[in-house]
Amino acid sequence: MQDVEPIVARAFAEFACSADAAQLENAKARFLGKSGELTALLKSLAALAPAERKSAGALVNAAKERIEAALAARREAIASAGLEARLAEEALDVTLPGRRRGRGGIHPLIRSWQRVEAIFRSIGFDVADGPEIETDWYNFTALNNPENHPARSMQDTFYVDVSDEHGQPLLLRTHTSPMQVRYARMWVERFRDAAQVPPIKVIVPGRCYRVDSDATHSPMFHQVEGLWIDENISFADLKGVYTDFLRRFFESDDLAVRFRPSFFPFTEPSAEIDVAFQSGPLEGKWLEISGAGQVHPDVVRNFGLDAEHYIGFAFGSGIERLTMLRYGINDLRLFFDGDLRFLKQFS
Ligand code: DAH
Repeated sequence: MQDVEPIVARAFAEFACSADAAQLENAKARFLGKSGELTALLKSLAALAPAERKSAGALVNAAKERIEAALAARREAIASAGLEARLAEEALDVTLPGRRRGRGGIHPLIRSWQRVEAIFRSIGFDVADGPEIETDWYNFTALNNPENHPARSMQDTFYVDVSDEHGQPLLLRTHTSPMQVRYARMWVERFRDAAQVPPIKVIVPGRCYRVDSDATHSPMFHQVEGLWIDENISFADLKGVYTDFLRRFFESDDLAVRFRPSFFPFTEPSAEIDVAFQSGPLEGKWLEISGAGQVHPDVVRNFGLDAEHYIGFAFGSGIERLTMLRYGINDLRLFFDGDLRFLKQFS
């Protein structure tokens, strides 16, 4: 019979240089398959004499077992090498910092808006909001704006092509002041059957629109309206409330506040409120921050109230202006460019 040792040696060598499972299975077929070398040898045993067959058979079987053992070992080695390779490839460094989902932040103007709300809520003001598409009546007429007032011109105001259901011209509100009238009328209606109308004490932050665009004006901007009406709310209350608001908003007691005579059709007397910081880059400079005044009796009547008994103040402040001063921002357009390098500084 043919010597088995060279076959075993070749099988070992071929298994050893099989790089993957497919090569290994091919090698196996060459030795152990139907027409494999060792199989042929086993078949050839049949031709031997019985006495010889026994010892030869034992030899071939022993060789077969060694080949099978080598095959199994190589299979395992290939499999674990594959696993190692996959593990290495998919390795995760669990000590790396996690990748966080990008977190949004609150826009600086909205921060101011929220700040203004919190301060006024803390002294008992309600917070309301109202339509940005407004009627000509609420935006102008009810606020004592004369028919021929320049603010009504197409150059200053965005008019809307359609009218409301009463044929009233519609426009994008140019200030938050129309909400004085809407809120007061709603309030008066609500307490129509009461012996007395409780004080009206509200702020209305919101968006306003004007045909205006440069470093200090944007066609869309934010104001906050304030209104306090009762039987004897005076200009002195306005001074107290507003000065206190400014000190809290800017977190500084070191502010000078000035009420400078001015004109608005819906207040009498009217004032511009100016503020001056006592330190910092704007030190000593008077900066206009708000319009204000004692609500005009004609407007009180448009609220649905008796102007002989109800009196109070109103103000309208620019939220952009408050924010620019608080953070030292010098160009209003930065608020609306959407540049993350700017916005991220506030989150
Ligand atoms: N509505 C005015 C404006 O835009 C600001 C204003 C002035 C509001 C005086 C008031 C006020 O309530 O009393 O420009």
